[in-house]
Amino acid sequence: MSQNTLVLGLQWGDEGKGKIVDNLSQDIDLVCRFQGGHNAGHTIKVNGEKTILHLIPSGILHKNSHCLIGNGVVLALDALDKEIKQLKIRGVDFKKRFFVSSACSLILPTHISIDQIRDKKESIGTTGRGIGPAYEDKIARRAIRLGDLGDTYKLQEKVELLVNYHNRLLKNVYKDRTHDVNEVFGEITKYIHLYDEFCVDSQDLIYNFVNKNKSILFEGAQGTLLDIDHGTYPYVTSSSTTAGGVSTGLGIGPRFIDKIIGITKAYSTRVGEGPFITELFDQSGQLLAKRGNEFGATTGRPRRCGWLDLVSLKKAVFINSVTDLCITKLDVLDEIEIIKVCIEYSNNEPIYMEFDGWLSSTEGITEYSNLPLKARTYIEYIEDYIECSASIISTGPSREQTILRNT
Ligand code: GDP
Ligand code: IMO
Ligand code: MG
Repeated sequence: MSQNTLVLGLQWGDEGKGKIVDNLSQDIDLVCRFQGGHNAGHTIKVNGEKTILHLIPSGILHKNSHCLIGNGVVLALDALDKEIKQLKIRGVDFKKRFFVSSACSLILPTHISIDQIRDKKESIGTTGRGIGPAYEDKIARRAIRLGDLGDTYKLQEKVELLVNYHNRLLKNVYKDRTHDVNEVFGEITKYIHLYDEFCVDSQDLIYNFVNKNKSILFEGAQGTLLDIDHGTYPYVTSSSTTAGGVSTGLGIGPRFIDKIIGITKAYSTRVGEGPFITELFDQSGQLLAKRGNEFGATTGRPRRCGWLDLVSLKKAVFINSVTDLCITKLDVLDEIEIIKVCIEYSNNEPIYMEFDGWLSSTEGITEYSNLPLKARTYIEYIEDYIECSASIISTGPSREQTILRNT
């Protein structure tokens, strides 16, 4: 029996999902994105070469894996086109192995304008990629979907209706510049080749893979604490980043998800605004930011850094039915003398448990038994607290800098 695996983030994103999905995709038949859009930035490092993917699933570098962008994703055609071109230059083949659901809602230039102007006032600190406004239109049943590119006559009417609506918002509510309907129509039809080459009925595609007993990997974007329902609302993204998002975002029942790998960094980071109870403002925070190279892969913004929050992590494990924990960026803690983890809140203040740092290099270690004892003590405390074992530990950004335990 082939196994289907979900890989998702348990924090505020950037946990290292790209690296782990790439590492696990070698023998996977189909790798799927099910939510989010090009607000994601998933970094993969292979043979010293870095790839940052925003929309394309992180299985794309394995030539035998197929990749699907599911219906739950909001799709910016220009961003997709750019990403495909960049990968093609590097010899990545897309023919007959890359697909996009006809039911993906499109992100239009007007969504981006609305997102950016609104964020100036609401200060969520969005990525400015039009994600929120695009999901709003999807839920309001007025979105333009990839499949609409199959009938350009009807598409013209839909674009006119939607852009006129956006323009009324931009002009009257946000006092911002409006967009020309024909220009927006042109911006969509410019990418009709993407529709011609990659648009599929993704329900059929998934059904066929499942029926042929092929293995599927579901790649989460963002993280549990950014989930529209379960995150730190309103400082969240606009999609279901948690395990439930797989079923709605792809059209596959929960019984077909066999293994759920939840990823956490060995500490915490957050980019954008919102609460962060274990945030550090001292030298330890700076050291984490520096050693962890904590700058956003999509916007380049510095990430806020702090200690690991086990209270929140345990909740995330429950929400997602995590079966396997993955701890990334362990090596970033190598030079920290005292490592703390939050084990309780008291009046909204974190109560910490302290660990002696191991003060030696874990970079690139691939065997659990080769980790310093103090690092293992740290990992085993986390496992005990959240009642889930860490079957993957990442000790560096490269594909092979990974410990796989009992997988
Ligand atoms: P994602 O959005 O979850 O895919 O994560 P990002 O790619 O946005 O951010 C994770 C960053 O950490 C990237 O720069 C990765 O190359 C890097 N990274 C991933 N795993 C490790 C690790 O174990 N150690 C170190 N030092 N860097 C890592
Ligand atoms: P990956 O997949 C980290 C954050 C933004 C902002 C909030 C809402 O790389 O882990 P949005 O543009 O989605 O409306 O912004 O969500 N955010 C992320 N933070 N990693 C991401 O993706 C993120 N995608 C969105 O910074 O706080
Ligand atoms: Mg990222």
